[in-house]
Amino acid sequence: MTNMNRRNFVATLGLAGTVLLAGCNGSEQPADDAQTTDETTEEASYTLVKEGVLTNVAELGFAPFEYIDEDGVTVGFDVDLSNAIAEKLGLTCEWLPNQAFDTLVPTIAQGGKADISIAGMTIDDTRLEEVDFSDPYLNSNQGIVALAGSGETSETLDVEGVQVACQTGTTGNSWIEENLPNATCVPLADVTAGMMGVSTGLYKAMVIDLPVAQNMIAESFSDLEVVEEIPTGEQYGIAVSYDNPGLKDAINDALAQIEEDGTMDELKQKWFGTTEV
Ligand code: ARG
Repeated sequence: MTNMNRRNFVATLGLAGTVLLAGCNGSEQPADDAQTTDETTEEASYTLVKEGVLTNVAELGFAPFEYIDEDGVTVGFDVDLSNAIAEKLGLTCEWLPNQAFDTLVPTIAQGGKADISIAGMTIDDTRLEEVDFSDPYLNSNQGIVALAGSGETSETLDVEGVQVACQTGTTGNSWIEENLPNATCVPLADVTAGMMGVSTGLYKAMVIDLPVAQNMIAESFSDLEVVEEIPTGEQYGIAVSYDNPGLKDAINDALAQIEEDGTMDELKQKWFGTTEV
């Protein structure tokens, strides 16, 4: 049995946390050694919703992290990263249909539908009450998007009657509530709807993750600009259930390898045109 098959076998039996497997580091081992442990490299087992598959759930309107391209294929930095992680674990990746961003943490906490949510999701204390996170894999900040040349700032926006859009349940949503107390915060399911609203004058501004703001402006909203960058110092992590600590460990191991073997830099280069993100 290969290391990969053995791991799937344990996953099928649902013995998470009770069986330690010998780490083979890719080399073949005799078929009958499932009980033996190797003192140097032990790996905890984990459960999966579907055997042999890393099942992902995300809100899929968040380019360049996860979005559906013209051919209907789910693509993006997070998608490539999830594929790379799955490959290290000897799994394939599947994506559930698009789900509203504010349902992702509850879905992972409940269990049974998806193993992970990789969704440009910021690790924060409120979310950590419900789900665990992998080690951080990317740094991010917020950006205020408004009509180019409008001269809007966080001061001009913090005025009664001014509508500022965001995606529901995001850190941008909380930022508006905390920092623009006089403005009216307009939470929306869809980032593109918010950008359209700013473009047509329905909303004065939108607050979203800076890399997404920059990508949307470059791809489809040349009439908009980032009028202010907000250095929130966020870090993206992969949400995993607290009931599946072995999966978190396996993902962290895979992430470390991905950093080390240059895959992470390749992905950053591919999706951001630079490794400095
Ligand atoms: N980083 C922000 C947060 O965690 C926004 C994430 C939105 N992600 C998405 N796939 N729509 O709240």
